[in-house]
Amino acid sequence: MTTSSNAAWLDKVYNARNREELAEGYDAWAADYDRDLMSFGYKIPAVTSGFIGRYIEPNAAPLLDAGAGTGIMGETLNLLGFDKLVAIDLSQGMLEQARKKNIYDELHQMALGDPLDFADDTFAATIATGVFTAGHAPAESFDELLRITQPGGHLIFTVRADVYLEQGFKQKQDALERDGAWHLVEMTAPFQSLPLGEPEVRNQTFVYEVA
Ligand SMILES: C[S@@+](CC[C@H](N)C(=O)[O-])C[C@H]1O[C@@H](n2cnc3c(N)ncnc32)[C@H](O)[C@@H]1O
Repeated sequence: MTTSSNAAWLDKVYNARNREELAEGYDAWAADYDRDLMSFGYKIPAVTSGFIGRYIEPNAAPLLDAGAGTGIMGETLNLLGFDKLVAIDLSQGMLEQARKKNIYDELHQMALGDPLDFADDTFAATIATGVFTAGHAPAESFDELLRITQPGGHLIFTVRADVYLEQGFKQKQDALERDGAWHLVEMTAPFQSLPLGEPEVRNQTFVYEVA
């Protein structure tokens, strides 16, 4: 890796061999992450914001930003007037960058896929962008996100398109629908999420309503 402003960081985090290595990768990238993502043409916030405007009431609170990273989505949520925001992420380094933006009421280091330290039905809605991707949070994360998101609230999240089909996400999402835990409201077609960084990779954005 010759410069921090290149796609090698993406390879590093996708190929982390375990959770510790993944967190270390993001800790090391954190200070340059926003600049790099913007230079890669990060499209997920625009698509996700459209769905936020369509489905989340302006006074909904609190909102969870799961896998919040440096708070790119939190910045948008804050500008849209959502003022009770909670961030969780695996990487303390990413959370420290998010903390500096002064937009989250709470920031916690927590791992999706593990039990989450929140009471049932805590959040009016949950957003999770860029975290359901290769080598990151598993499909089982949805069980806990459903537990802590209020019935009638929405979960709006992205899943990398190949991971959706090949790493159990479609199976898990369909099973939760069959079990009556949530209901698919809308999903996008796969789209280039970082067209200038990894043009071959596509993500999809999903909106589910909690039963
Ligand atoms: C590509 S970044 C996306 C960050 C932010 N949501 C955004 O859209 O810019 C992925 C984030 O997920 C976090 N992450 C990876 N695996 C995780 C897990 N199991 N639980 C919580 N966070 C995780 C990483 O630390 C990183 O901050």
